[in-house]
Amino acid sequence: MNWDEWRAKARSQLIEGVAPAEAVWNDAPEFLFSVLERKPLEKPVIPKDFLEMGPLIAAAREPDRWNLLYRLVYRLNHESPHLLNIITDPDVKKAMDLVKSVRKDIHKMHAFVRFKKVDIDGQEGYVAWHKPEHLIMELGTPFFARRFGDKPWSIFSPDASAHWNMKELTFGAGMTEHEFNIEDEFDEVWKTYYKSIFNPARLNLKMMKQEMSPKYWSSMPETALIHELVREAPQRLQNMAAAPQVRADVPKNKSLAEMKDLAGKCKICPWAGQSTQTVFGEGNPEADFMIVGEQPGNDEDLNGQAFVGPAGKLLSEALQELGIRRESIYITNAVKHFKWTPSDDGKARIHKKPSGTDMHACKPWLEAEIAAVKPRVIIALGTTAATAILGRLVKINEYREKVITNNALAENIIVSWHPSAILRAFDQKDATEKLAQLKSDLAKALALSSSAVSSASIQI
Ligand code: URA
Repeated sequence: MNWDEWRAKARSQLIEGVAPAEAVWNDAPEFLFSVLERKPLEKPVIPKDFLEMGPLIAAAREPDRWNLLYRLVYRLNHESPHLLNIITDPDVKKAMDLVKSVRKDIHKMHAFVRFKKVDIDGQEGYVAWHKPEHLIMELGTPFFARRFGDKPWSIFSPDASAHWNMKELTFGAGMTEHEFNIEDEFDEVWKTYYKSIFNPARLNLKMMKQEMSPKYWSSMPETALIHELVREAPQRLQNMAAAPQVRADVPKNKSLAEMKDLAGKCKICPWAGQSTQTVFGEGNPEADFMIVGEQPGNDEDLNGQAFVGPAGKLLSEALQELGIRRESIYITNAVKHFKWTPSDDGKARIHKKPSGTDMHACKPWLEAEIAAVKPRVIIALGTTAATAILGRLVKINEYREKVITNNALAENIIVSWHPSAILRAFDQKDATEKLAQLKSDLAKALALSSSAVSSASIQI
C-alpha cells in the first residue's frame, strides 16, 4: 500500500463511519471489521497539516503507520479539528516523531548518496546504492532529479530503486549491496574531496560517527580513508601548526571609506585573484545595528555591493517588512571576496563555502569595520558569519534565540538563518518556518539596537 492508496481507502472508510478499532490496516490492504458503532460522515475533512505530514508518516518504517494515520484522521473528524496541536497526545506525538525521523533520513540521503559513473550502452550514466532507514525512495529522490537533471542516474536501496532518464523519475525493485558493486574513478574524487576537508584539529571520531553514521560507510568511498586519516592526524596537525597563517594587515584608525579603499587592494587570500572585486560593507557608519553575512555571491561580486542578489532580495524584503531601511543600518560579510568554482559546462560560477583559512585571513577587515561602526547589536546570518564572529563552530539551531552578551566585538550578538538557507530549504514548510524565524530575529535585533536593556541574554 502507498499513501495515495491509503488516502482513497481511508476516505471511503470515513464516509462509512468505520471506527479506527475496526479497520486493521496493513501493507496488503486488508481490513478486518467488527460491529462497533459506526459514525458515518457525509464529507470527511482532511486538514492541510495532516496532508503535509501524511506522506512522511506513510514512508516511515513503522508497522503501525497506516493504523496511526487512520486513528488521526478519524479523530480529526470526530474529536477535534485541532488535534494536531495537542502535542502531548500519544498519537500526535508518535506522528511528529515519525515525521522528524523521516525528514532526517531524507536529509541524510541527500548528503550521503555517492554516484558512480557507469557506461550504459556507450552512454554515460550514474548509479548509487544507499540504505535509508525509512521507505523514502519516492520522497527523497526528486531532489536528485533537480540537482542532476542533465544526466541519467539510478539509485538503488534494499527496498526500492529510483531511475531518472532526464525526463521522468520512475521507481522499481530494490537490490542488495552485494548485487551492486562497481568501482570507478568517482570513488577517487570523493576520497580526494574528503581528504581536503578533513581537519585533524577537529578530529573527534565519536562526533564523526554521529554525523555520518557507520551504517552508511560501506557505500561511501571516502570512509575507506578514515582509518588512514586518523593515523596521520598528529603529523598533519604538526604540519598545520608549522604553516604560517595568513591574515590581512589592516592599519589602525582609518575611516570606513579609507578601509574600503585598502580592502579593495587586499591580496591576502587566493580569491582576490579569482573574483571581480572586493565587496566591502556599506551603510550607516554610525549604525547601532549591523548585519553580517557569509561572503559576496555572483551578483555581489559583479556589483561590488553586499546582499544584492537573490539572498539579498529576500533579506531586503524582510527588512522592509519590519520597517528597517537598509541605509539606516550597516551590512557586511565575514569574507570579502567571492569564492567559486566553475560549473560542469564552465558557463556559471558556483558558490564555494569559505574555509576556516579564508575566514581567518579576512577577519581583520570585519573586526575593523565593527570597531569603526561600534554597533550595539550584530546579527550574524548563517554558520560562516556566526563562526567568524564567535570564534567557534556554530550550528544555527543551537544558537538561535539566544542573545550573546559577553563577546568583545559587540554588546549583543544574535545568530540567525542565512537567507540562502531559506532559498535552499528542504521544502516549503521548512522555508516558511526559517523565514519567520529570521524575521523574528531581525525584529529582536532591532529592539535591542534601540534599547540599552537586553532581555533574556546569556553568557557563552
Ligand atoms: N550571501 C552573503 O552572505 N552575502 C552577500 O553579500 C550575498 C549573499
